[in-house]
Amino acid sequence: MGEKLAVDGGQPVRTLDFPSWPIWDQLEEKLLLEVLHSGKWGILNGGKVAQFEKQFSEFVGAKRALCVTSGTTALEISLRALGIGPGDEVITTPYSFVATPSAAFLTGAKPVFVDIDPETYLLDPVQVQAAITDRTKAVIPVHIAGCPADMDCMREVARAHNLYLVEDACQAWGAEWNGQPVGALGDLGCFSFQASKNINAGEGGAIVTNSEELAERCWSLHNVGRIRTGAWYQHEVLGWNYRITEWQGAILLAQLSRLQEHMAVRQDNAAYLSARLDEIDGLTPAKVDPRITKHAWHLYMMTYDSTAFGGWPCERFIAALSAEGIPCSPGYRPLNQMPALRRALAEQAGQIDPWNTTETNLPTFAPCPIVEDLCQRTVWLKQTQLLGDHEDMDDIVAAVQKIQRATA
Ligand SMILES: Cc1ncc(COP(=O)(O)O)c(C=O)c1O
Repeated sequence: MGEKLAVDGGQPVRTLDFPSWPIWDQLEEKLLLEVLHSGKWGILNGGKVAQFEKQFSEFVGAKRALCVTSGTTALEISLRALGIGPGDEVITTPYSFVATPSAAFLTGAKPVFVDIDPETYLLDPVQVQAAITDRTKAVIPVHIAGCPADMDCMREVARAHNLYLVEDACQAWGAEWNGQPVGALGDLGCFSFQASKNINAGEGGAIVTNSEELAERCWSLHNVGRIRTGAWYQHEVLGWNYRITEWQGAILLAQLSRLQEHMAVRQDNAAYLSARLDEIDGLTPAKVDPRITKHAWHLYMMTYDSTAFGGWPCERFIAALSAEGIPCSPGYRPLNQMPALRRALAEQAGQIDPWNTTETNLPTFAPCPIVEDLCQRTVWLKQTQLLGDHEDMDDIVAAVQKIQRATA
């Protein structure tokens, strides 16, 4: 193989695909056919979603689990169930999917961004403490990439300031902080089962909690304000129809049955890749706190140092690595700078029409210099790339080394 980079027309290091997603077999088929033949396609008379909720609650060590249409709606319902609304502030991270702050906006509350720890990419508990005001009602730590946030500190801060704690565990199925599964470490925890996720039902989400009262409120909100003991047309509060279908219940049961086996493979490959990357300057995997006893590895995130690659900007490195047959991306942009969220801030203050996307004079969130810097020099691999074997990881390292030689 010549040393010409693939991006310049050379031979790529790798031509094989990484494992494809979703992974499924006869179990999904069997369970889907059971739903089909039963004629019970909705949760109101079927049993698959209820069965999954029981298994998932046991899996995450929560008393209750409730399936809803997405991680986004799980977050929105959770905040609504806690009574969060206009005038309230919700502290969260600027390094997440847009749904985390948009859930706060959708209740009428204001998301307040607090910067992240530069080594872990996770919400910095010290800065959380400093951002608390008399309007703060909740904190949403996000277990980004499947890596649990410091839940000892988060719980301590929430307890000390009488705040609700809602875990955004949308990427963290089965992850554990200090031997305890995430999700029910705060008041409510939210999961996503969207198509890219390590449990994939096409779309879907779940809320978990140890509080029977909150579980019932969430149930009511996701079921157009009904109560369990009420009549069909009895609606006690305003709610949505955020119910999922039995088709998703069937798929979720099958996907959950494979999760632990997949987790072990991802963990093994992630550990191997991190050890190999240790041999190379310029790519530092996101730090994993030793108190994290299980990482869900939805993403494999690395911080890029251009000085080790001849000063190449990160996007050029990403293009070159992708061309070598290693799909990768820069990941999130800082949420505190996202125009849609800044427009939402203006809308909340009654300043603009949210559909007027030409408005440039938008209000700003507080700066988050760490996230703004890191988003310029982060490289993501996906969970599916960790489902192969050590030779696949070696290809990733070989491609990085090839680019490094070419930029020396
Ligand atoms: C951290 C995080 N929060 C929330 C969500 C929202 O989940 P969904 O796409 O199921 O609405 C996602 C999904 O991408 C996510 O990664």
